[in-house]
Parts: sequence; structure tokens; C-alpha cells
Amino acid sequence: MDKYIIDGGEKLYGKIEIQSAKNTVLPLLAASVLTDEPVKIRGVPMINDVENMLRILTEVGCKIRRQKDCALIDSSGAASHEIPTRLTKELRSSVFMLGSVLTRFRRAKISYPGGCDIGLRPIDLHLSGLKRLGVKIVEKDGYIHCEADRLVGAEILLDFPSVGATENIILAAVKAEGITVIRNAAKEPEIVDLQRFLNVMGAKVRGAGGGTVVIEGVKRLHGLEYTPIGDRIEAGTHLIAAASCGGEIETNGVPSENIAALLHKLRENGCKIYTKNDRIILISDGRLKSVNLVETMPFPGFPTDLQAQYSALCCTAKGATLVVENLFETRYRYAAELKRMGADITIRGRTAFIQGVEKLHGACVTASDLRGGAALVVAALKAEGQSTVMDLSHVDRGYADFEGKLRRLGAKIRRIRV
Ligand code: UD1
Repeated sequence: MDKYIIDGGEKLYGKIEIQSAKNTVLPLLAASVLTDEPVKIRGVPMINDVENMLRILTEVGCKIRRQKDCALIDSSGAASHEIPTRLTKELRSSVFMLGSVLTRFRRAKISYPGGCDIGLRPIDLHLSGLKRLGVKIVEKDGYIHCEADRLVGAEILLDFPSVGATENIILAAVKAEGITVIRNAAKEPEIVDLQRFLNVMGAKVRGAGGGTVVIEGVKRLHGLEYTPIGDRIEAGTHLIAAASCGGEIETNGVPSENIAALLHKLRENGCKIYTKNDRIILISDGRLKSVNLVETMPFPGFPTDLQAQYSALCCTAKGATLVVENLFETRYRYAAELKRMGADITIRGRTAFIQGVEKLHGACVTASDLRGGAALVVAALKAEGQSTVMDLSHVDRGYADFEGKLRRLGAKIRRIRV
């Protein structure tokens, strides 16, 4: 498996264009089977999760063409209601296919989805929401069989504002009879983008971003061309790297309100941050002070997908930081690897106590999930000496040309293809 060799200690300078958000592109790809007409999505990042989603679409009968950074999806020949098991195991977002395939065929069969190993990640909220819309669900032999003679709008209250459950229910409700109301819906910017996409297709969805989403079922949806929002997690990762290493970078493609919680912390750490429209400029001298507490929360709180990278930054900040992970149970597997680089981290359940050290040193470390892998890269960029980050398959799931973008900012990073 590929690995990175990183010579740490360089400051980062320059501008980077942010890719379209992985977490938007995946549900939008699933949504493209809601229509027979062609769908064109621009700025689709070349990452493994997207490639796997495109494979799933192909296996259910869609025709896919890649044209530069665009994906063209023609679902007119979609014929299968079975989501292929092999790919479902690779990609948690395959679960979105449930909502859209149900809308299209009134039935769907899927195995339990995979994805990053960061906790239990149940899908009970997805399933109970679908049941409220009239879907009969039978779990048998490791498969979930869903069937609905009719999909009928309903009031749904989510016990927790799950991003995936909110998106899945929206996808199942867009062509249902009557009105669906999702209360305690997730408020993430990716939900707002899904709403915008569906409304351009002719759907009637409102309220996304505000906690209550109202979906008025329509008879028909049509094709479209669409550019998704920028990836706030990719932008956040680069901003954290530059904050930790020192330097001055500008990200283009993500409005500051989409990562306000991170920017707030980075300012407390001592960085200077300027924002205008979709641009964020960060200036850091690389000598940060700790913030006392960082707790992950649903949006607009601090994103769990930046917890690992931010914790890597805390390792060399002056003072101690308490990190609390409220979303996923086992999202600290990277911590043992950071300790190999000299980090002082104590984990107790969902809490990490990080005592900042003078410096980290280079080491051979192994990524075990997507954002944990990015955290190891952030730490290696700051560390003294050379590091090897093994097993890039995880990082490749979410970052397109990660090393190229970092190299253009001045980092000494190269990929060794194995
Ligand atoms: C999405 C993101 C992921 C991010 C996460 C939280 C995508 C493709 N992935 O994942 O990158 O880390 O939001 O911001 O958009 N839960 C249940 N039952 C359910 C569903 C969720 O108990 O049916 C729990 C989960 O275990 C977790 C919490 O709810 O503790 C949040 O999960 P959720 O918001 O659903 O995350 P994902 O949609 O899987």
C-alpha cells in the first residue's frame, strides 16, 4: 500500500482551491437515480469514496461518464433495486441509495454499510424514518429488505440530528404522496446543498439548515447540471496544518460560516484569520497556545471530522487541551501513532487529554481511518525529522491529491507507490 515520506518543519505558504465536498457529492450521486434524465455534477473529486459510489450506480444500471472533473449520470436504464454488497462494505454512504432506490423502484435490498471504523455507526434512525413513510423493512441473512407499495409523507422526529438519516429520509420523501416533516433534522451545510440540488431537479424541499425540513412530494424530477459546495473538512485540514506549522495560506471555495467553530478555536490558539466570501486567509507563527476544551458536536458545533487533525495541532501547542468526542465512540485510534512521534496524550473513553510538548519527532506511523490519517500527516509536517505515514488507502477515500496540494504550499511530502 502507498505511503508518504514527510520531512517536517517547513512553514506553509500559498493558495489552495478546495475540492467539492465529499459529503455532498455522495448523496447527490445517490439522488441522481431519482430521475430518468441526465445529471451532470461538476467538480467531482477523484477520491475512492466517489469512485465506489459511481461503481454502485453502474451496478444498479446507470451509465456513467467522467469528463474532466465532471460526472455525467444517465439513470434511464437503472433496473436493479439491489445495492451490491461488496461495494456497500467499502462505503458507508452506500446507505443513501436506500432512499433514492426506494423512491425509484418502491423496493431496495442492501447489506449493512461499512466505511471508517470509528464506532458502532448504526442505521436505526434511517430505518425508523423510512418506516414512518410506509416502508416495510425485514432484516434477514445480513440484508435489509425494504418494500413500499406507496410512499406517504409523515411527521418524523429524529432522536438525534443524524446527517445520513436526514438525507436518506429526504431522498425517500421527495416523490412521496403528501408532506413529510423532519424535526430535529441535521443542520449541516451538506443538507442545505442537497436541498438546493433537489429543488433544481423540481423537488419542493424547504427548511434545511434550520432543524426542521419540510418536503412536499412531487410527481416528477428532471435532470440538471450542478456544482456542489466546497469541502469544509478539506479546507479545515489545510488550515490546521498551516496553523500548526506556521506560515500564511488562503483557501478558496468554503465560506467561513461553514467552519466557524474551527476558525474560532484557531483564533484562540493565536492565529490571525481574515475571511471574505469563500476565501479564508490564515496567518500563524507556528507557536500556538492551547485552548482549554474542544468538544465535537453536530453543526454548527466543532465537526467530528476535524477532531483528529485538530488534536494533532494540540500536541505541540503551549499548555493542555481537553478534547471530547461526542459523535463516534472509537475516534482516537490515531493517538497511539501520535505518541510514537512524542505526543503526550491520555485517552479515557470519549476524552483525550493532550499536554502540549516542545516538539514532535519523525516516526513511522500507520493510518487506520480517513481523518486519523490526515491527523498523522498534520503531525508529521510539524515534526522534526522524517516521518513515514503508512497505508494511504484511508486518506485517499477523502482527499484528492493531498500531497500535491501540500507540496504546492511548501511541504516536503512525497508518495511512495507500493
Ligand atoms: C456523516 C458524515 C461523516 C461525519 C458525520 C457526523 C457523510 C457521508 N458522512 O456521517 O463524515 O463524521 O456525518 O458529522 O456525510 N446514529 C445513530 N443511528 C443512526 C444514524 C446515526 O445512532 O441511524 C448516530 C451515530 O452512531 C453517531 C451520530 O448518530 O453517533 C452521528 O451520525 P450521523 O450524523 O448519522 O453520521 P453519518 O451520516 O454516518
